[in-house]
Amino acid sequence: MENTFVDNVSEIKLYKIFIISKRKMATFTNKGFIKHDDYMTPKSAWDDIKQYIPKDKLIWEAFYGNGDSGSHLKELGFNVIHEEVDFFENDLGDIIVSNPPFSKVPQVLARMVELDKPFIMIMPSSKINTQYFKKLFKNKIQLIIPKKRIHFEKLVDGKKPEGWRNACNFDCFYYCYKMNLPSDITWL
Ligand SMILES: C[S@@+](CC[C@H](N)C(=O)[O-])C[C@H]1O[C@@H](n2cnc3c(N)ncnc32)[C@H](O)[C@@H]1O
Repeated sequence: MENTFVDNVSEIKLYKIFIISKRKMATFTNKGFIKHDDYMTPKSAWDDIKQYIPKDKLIWEAFYGNGDSGSHLKELGFNVIHEEVDFFENDLGDIIVSNPPFSKVPQVLARMVELDKPFIMIMPSSKINTQYFKKLFKNKIQLIIPKKRIHFEKLVDGKKPEGWRNACNFDCFYYCYKMNLPSDITWL
């Protein structure tokens, strides 16, 4: 009985997160980025996992940033949609391959559950320990662990900040959903 109550409370919380996110995202424009969300993925990060991304599927690089990430994936031979559209109001491609805004991970994951589309998303390794992550994706995720820390290109107002050396102080995993990888944990 108690457990059901706790489950219901968590579900209500997640639902609220999703509703709030929908309201916020309705006003999304690419100029309104939160500064610490603008970490652009280097081509090497996609190159390292290219063998796990199917070539015969349409990839949605769902979070635009400066647009380079989609170009990197195209250069690696993938069929990619990478447009400046609001993730929360679109449903494109067969598989999502992206690096989402880290400040909106709970809302992004709630939307992922709704879409129920296979994905590979680069996110900080700490996310796997959050309550919202466990609630949504416990036992449903496979991980690819990078060989080395991924160093993103940081942008502030569309420009590289002075003194920034592309040296990140956090680690990431590739979180994979419904990708049918041969192992639950793949160490690159
Ligand atoms: C961590 S960056 C990664 C950008 C790109 N995917 C890459 O890998 O280089 C996340 C980006 O998500 C974008 N973003 C934020 N909110 C969004 C939304 N509601 N819909 C689509 N993109 C959004 C911003 O452009 C932000 O720079």
